[in-house]
Amino acid sequence: MGELYMPRHVGIIMDGNGRWAKKRGLPRQIGHTYGAQTFKNIARYISKQGVKVLTLYAFSTENWKRPAEEVNAIMKIFHQYLVDSLTDFRDDDIKVVFIGDRSVFSPELIDLINESEEVAKDRKGMLLNIAMNYGGRDEIVRAVKNICRDVKENKTDIESISEKDIEKYLYTANQPDPDLIIRTGGEHRLSNFLLYQAAYSEFYSMDILWPDFKPKDFDKAVEEFNRRNRRFGGV
Ligand code: FPP
Repeated sequence: MGELYMPRHVGIIMDGNGRWAKKRGLPRQIGHTYGAQTFKNIARYISKQGVKVLTLYAFSTENWKRPAEEVNAIMKIFHQYLVDSLTDFRDDDIKVVFIGDRSVFSPELIDLINESEEVAKDRKGMLLNIAMNYGGRDEIVRAVKNICRDVKENKTDIESISEKDIEKYLYTANQPDPDLIIRTGGEHRLSNFLLYQAAYSEFYSMDILWPDFKPKDFDKAVEEFNRRNRRFGGV
């Protein structure tokens, strides 16, 4: 294959941590610990490939249904990750932002989220969206509420609302739509990830479990992406 075209925005559904641990006779949370390590390595690798925006699905609005023990373990991993992230990614100039409803996290975690965004805010490299307590439907509900508020306050006119205007109310305002969405762990569904933004994304499901995901697996997804013929509804 000749010169590869790099997707501008890549989304990743990091699935399979639990199964990875189970296969080794370890508790599920150990899978998340290894998954967090993969998260860092892969974000760094992808930023070096020239991708402009990377969105990683870390915790969905549905993940609270898991056993409390596992949810607590994931929150601890986030906490440790955030403490480290205050310095991590600095050398790679990665700009970290969080998408999702952060209001439900512990005050300590919320402070860390805000602080992580603050230290990274002037960075010019890849934009890394970390989706935490994120749900595509929840994002749309929030957008609708804010649009209604703006209509009520005469800041916007109902008839003039366009698709572009709706985009401005999403967490990903001013970002390009994802070109490629990768899901590890072998399932073939979107699981409430970037519902509005994914209208024309290429979806690529891989059997590999997230903690095993390596740079070469990302390269494979990009090669497949280059073989696809994107028509955006045209012919
Ligand atoms: C999916 O695997 C993974 C999660 C729900 C949690 C993801 C969390 C991380 C990768 C930690 C890294 C995140 C940050 C912000 C450092 P699963 O548990 O659904 O796996 P299974 O399908 O095998 O059960």
